[in-house]
Formats: sequence, structure tokens, C-alpha cells
Amino acid sequence: MAEHLTLPPTDDRKTRYTALLPQLEALVEGESDPVANMANVAAALRETFGFFWVGFYRVVGDELVLGPFQGSLACTRIDFGRGVCGTAWNERRTILVPDVEAFPGHIACSSASRSEIVVPFFDSSGDRVVGVLDIDSDRPDDFSETDREGLEALMQRIGRKLQHENN
Ligand code: SME
Repeated sequence: MAEHLTLPPTDDRKTRYTALLPQLEALVEGESDPVANMANVAAALRETFGFFWVGFYRVVGDELVLGPFQGSLACTRIDFGRGVCGTAWNERRTILVPDVEAFPGHIACSSASRSEIVVPFFDSSGDRVVGVLDIDSDRPDDFSETDREGLEALMQRIGRKLQHENN
């Protein structure tokens, strides 16, 4: 597909997730390189929703290591079980944080971040977490079930294109 997004003329997030999902599927389908795909997915999510920070952390050994992202500089390594990202990895589920200051062990890469959602994605067998999608907002309580559903659906559909094929 062309390297541009067609977005509906509304800020309604559910409508935007619905429009975005098939476009991102088509975008990553023709590209086998996971770094290229993570980069475009991060850019598309930021362009579509205007989030403050959007990016990926990949599981490398016993740590998460920073991958492609859009936004300001971020911490490069996060231990298993640490912060919101390491918790999503450990618990193998989406973590939605309405107020980052109320989350024990939150890792503050930027003081402007107020709320956060982290969605893990899995290898082809569904057993192993291979990375997490991390989105930060500079607005408190900015994420809802709409975001959880939209982002989980996205990761289910394209997660295999964000990792090396033999994973
Ligand atoms: N806040 C995250 C760290 C990553 S940055 O937000 C980009 C955490 O607590 O895991």
C-alpha cells in the first residue's frame, strides 16, 4: 500500500482504530523486516491519535530493549517485572495505567507522561512474549477499554510481523 494513512474525519478513537487496523495489516504484510514494521506502526499510531510517545520494547534475553519509537528519548533497558512495561511482560497482559504516579515502580522516562498503556505481543505459538507496545500520554486517564481493544486487536493481527519469522 502507499505510505500514507487514510483517516476518518473524526477524533472518535473507536472509529479511528477500525479504520487503521486494515491499513496497518496491509502495510506490514509486504515487509518482512520487523524493525521497519515497528517503525511504521509507531509512526502511524502517533499520527492517528497524537499520542505523546509511542514505541516498542523487544525481549532480548532477560531484559526489554528499546526498539523503534516516536517521541522523546527513552530509557533503553527495562528488567523483567520492572515498571509498566516489565509488568506487562511478566503478567502477559495489557496494563492500563490512568495515573502513572500511582503505579508502583513506574519508570519515568519523561516527566510529562501522565498515563500509559502497554500491550504485549507473542510468538507464533502464543507462548512467549516477544515484545511490548508502549504508549504514553501527557494527559491523565487518557486510555480506555477502546484503546485496550483496539491495540490488542492490532497486536493480535500484526504481532507476527514485528518479530523475526523463525521466532
Ligand atoms: N514508563 C515505562 C517506561 C518506558 S517509557 O514510558 C517510554 C515503564 O514504566 O515501564
